Amino acid sequence: MILPIVAYGDPVLKKKGANITKDYPKLDDLLENMFETMYNAMGVGLAAPQIGLPIRLFLVDTSPFAEDEDFTEAERNALKDFKRVFINAKILEEEGDEWAFNEGCLSIPDVREDVFRQPKVKVEYFDENFKKHTEVFDGLIARVIQHEYDHIEGVLFTDKLSSFKKRLIKGKLSNVSKGKINVDYRMRFPNQKKKR
Ligand code: NI
Repeated sequence: MILPIVAYGDPVLKKKGANITKDYPKLDDLLENMFETMYNAMGVGLAAPQIGLPIRLFLVDTSPFAEDEDFTEAERNALKDFKRVFINAKILEEEGDEWAFNEGCLSIPDVREDVFRQPKVKVEYFDENFKKHTEVFDGLIARVIQHEYDHIEGVLFTDKLSSFKKRLIKGKLSNVSKGKINVDYRMRFPNQKKKR
């Protein structure tokens, strides 16, 4: 089932997510619905707050990047096969010189900006079977994980921009929260005026 994606301005996107346990109700269905929702919106990541749930859960599938000629063949192969569920994730370490990448977010359609992040990240998380992992990721995979991880911490990529950039996109963000945008997937807008 495709779920509506919560748009910028909804307070759930600002909440720090809570850890969940193995017996979280209908977790399998939730994961299936979140994957379907993410693929339908052509996303490479989706975090639970984006469908209205303030819990520490996100998905990543970087395979769409595997078509991008800007990457080396080795990078594209890694991106092609990277599909993962992250539950109760904790970033243990971030390393290296920050690099810029033009990021977007399914909750903020029409806005893309360069965001600086460190290239290497060490993460502790549980997979969909509640098996614990500690892994190091780098490059674009690390970046998608960092972006989604921010979501479960209540942080959006627009929070990381300079105050000058924030001022420039203020009007656009306000339009997103009101639903004054063209978007081809289901969304829920916090400040949309009800139609009579
Ligand atoms: Ni996002």
